[in-house]
Amino acid sequence: METREYRYTYEVYSSLDELSAEDRELADAAISALAGSYAPYSGFNVGAALRLEDGTVVKGANQENAAYPSGLCAERTAMFSAGAAYPDLAQRSIAVAASQNGVLCASPASPCGACRQVMAQYQTKAGKSMSVILVGGEMIYKFARVDDLLPFIFDNI
Ligand code: THU
Repeated sequence: METREYRYTYEVYSSLDELSAEDRELADAAISALAGSYAPYSGFNVGAALRLEDGTVVKGANQENAAYPSGLCAERTAMFSAGAAYPDLAQRSIAVAASQNGVLCASPASPCGACRQVMAQYQTKAGKSMSVILVGGEMIYKFARVDDLLPFIFDNI
């Protein structure tokens, strides 16, 4: 028997101004994507912005439905939209922002497990890392690759 350790790192920024110009642009796009959120049941608005390898930015926002499971998170809305419209372009970076009552949440919203799995698969499909930027009003987290959010990705089939 041996015990193995899984280590991951992420960057913490205290303001949008500290981000690189490219990451700042994507973070701003995630914040502006909040305008497309349809969340009449939870009141929790989420916006996502995805950068493709050619620089194209695709936005998404959570979409809720009276039949609850029929709704979709912001991240998957963006990734599936990009996957359908630009199937040959790698998804290189995704930024996520959340708000309640029109106010950006102070702490970053952390993607749900299903969204992490979908991020992982687009990363595997591309064969290139996808960074994840979680935007909060008081702090911003940046993960260099999806593996840092989801170890032991299911990719067996
Ligand atoms: N939601 C997202 O869009 N992304 C996340 O990372 C977490 C949760 C949405 C789903 C639902 O519309 C609302 O937030 C409350 O769970």
